[in-house]
Amino acid sequence: MTEYKIALVGFGGVNRALAQLIAERNARWQQELGFSLKIVGVTDLFLGSVIDRNGLDAASLAALPAVKGAFAQLPEGTAEAFNESVIKHSGADIIAEATFTNPKDGEPAATFCRWALETGKHVVTTNKGPIALHGEELKRLTKANGVSFEYEGSVMSGTPVLRLARQTLAGSGVQGFEGILNGTSNYVLTRMEEGLGFAEAVAKAQQLGYAEADPTADVEGHDVRLKVVVLANELLGAHLQVNDVACSGISGITSNDIAQARDSGARWKLIGSARRDADGSVNASVEARLLPSSHPLVGISGATNAVAFDTELLGAVTVSGPGAGRIETAFALLSDIVALHTSGRQA
Ligand SMILES: NC(=O)c1ccc[n+]([C@@H]2O[C@H](COP(=O)([O-])OP(=O)(O)OC[C@H]3O[C@@H](n4cnc5c(N)ncnc54)[C@H](OP(=O)(O)O)[C@@H]3O)[C@@H](O)[C@H]2O)c1
Repeated sequence: MTEYKIALVGFGGVNRALAQLIAERNARWQQELGFSLKIVGVTDLFLGSVIDRNGLDAASLAALPAVKGAFAQLPEGTAEAFNESVIKHSGADIIAEATFTNPKDGEPAATFCRWALETGKHVVTTNKGPIALHGEELKRLTKANGVSFEYEGSVMSGTPVLRLARQTLAGSGVQGFEGILNGTSNYVLTRMEEGLGFAEAVAKAQQLGYAEADPTADVEGHDVRLKVVVLANELLGAHLQVNDVACSGISGITSNDIAQARDSGARWKLIGSARRDADGSVNASVEARLLPSSHPLVGISGATNAVAFDTELLGAVTVSGPGAGRIETAFALLSDIVALHTSGRQA
């Protein structure tokens, strides 16, 4: 039976949910998946850090109050976030990186990934910043150190998309994809179809916790652009930088546009897409598109996400599911650990 020692970097919604799942399901994972997880370190800018090579109690961690410096309440804990020590010196086999996404330079998460990979640790992350902005470098480091670097949750939370395309659709000839990759903007468009104006729909999304106080990254397509870079580089062998992807959002869509679309059975959607052209180049964009009633993504409503792959052998293959949620995204980390466990590169 394999027991992986895991250290959690960032202890907000996602990694706290992973601790909760470990507390509730470790015994079941031993039976079903052939491994269990032991948390040996946690570090978080707000809560502090703690290391115990013998294993921390996952249930106690998950239940810890979200107050500044809370890890100082634990034996061996401190109110300071000793990220480097936890990553390099907690004895972890796997680093679960779930700190905030920095869309400009991917830092400091990219550095956390580097520290882990350079010291021979597997990395699982839900953070799209390091992959979109430093993917090639981090993959080189991964290879050089003979470890695994998995990031399924960075695109559609726990809904499978990267490994689905890379593994299950291998050989099908994926030529491109179109995706509804931002739940907030899709929720806003759906509420506008129900009669709300753009500003009212955004306010509703904020009330429900879907949208940030500043919704720009969601409604102007910036969040989707990072995901398109990850998908295009992974699935189409592209080498896109963020600025290679033309990007516009949904803030220019009016209630009138929505009503006109409805009359013809069409729907406005914020679509992130990329396609390999005949000359091998890959073109990608993020933009609001009017989808006809026959389009595979036209029925995707509310905060749900979806991607339709365009394949040579199967035509359109579509996967839809949650694109966010703490438990859903923690599941993505578990799926990454399952992938590294079955890769033959375990510790
Ligand atoms: N939640 C989702 O539904 C979802 C879905 C897909 C992907 N993701 C991605 O997963 C990651 C984690 O999401 P989340 O919802 O758990 O975010 P979160 O609740 O904001 O938690 C992130 C935690 O990381 C801490 N942190 C920030 N900078 C740090 C640093 N330099 N060193 C150590 N800790 C640091 C934060 O502390 P402070 O609060 O003090 O900054 C916070 O406690 C993000 O990159 C997010 O984009 C999330």
